[in-house]
Amino acid sequence: MSYNMKRRAFVTRVGQFGAGLVAIAGGLTSWDLLQPLPTSGFGGKVRSIPPGAVPDEGVIEVPAARSYLGKVDGEIVAFSEKCTHLGCRVPYCESSSQFECPCHGSAFNRVGDYLTGPAPRGMDQHPVEVGDDGLLYIDTGSKILGPAPGENLHDIAPTGPSCVAEGE
Ligand code: FES
Repeated sequence: MSYNMKRRAFVTRVGQFGAGLVAIAGGLTSWDLLQPLPTSGFGGKVRSIPPGAVPDEGVIEVPAARSYLGKVDGEIVAFSEKCTHLGCRVPYCESSSQFECPCHGSAFNRVGDYLTGPAPRGMDQHPVEVGDDGLLYIDTGSKILGPAPGENLHDIAPTGPSCVAEGE
């Protein structure tokens, strides 16, 4: 084999090796880009607040997770803001300490139990976990269906007047 042929074969091999490396790097990069982020916006795990900031009574809203953090029987839970009737955003009424849907009048106590209205069940929840950074992460990609009306109903009286005017 002549010197020129050896050189050409060597250059060809080096070129093939380089092209292979570029293809592998491109494939790995594409694979990384397609992976879901471990923490992201709504639809994924949403980073929120420290567990100690969750009130014992009442709730605190986490807009990025479209959820409220509160406690049920001492355990931290994340209530979905989406009404279990037709999906309106359900505000928390500070005066009554209840969730009151302005669309068709469904109401839920502060632990998400169904009280009244056309909603088929209590408020849905998202799983919550404490991350390595000590903050609560709300998994908005998963949903725990709310309890059926009357199921494990907590006897919690309203603390004041409703935020939804009568007849609305
Ligand atoms: S959407 Fe809430 S009561 Fe209808």
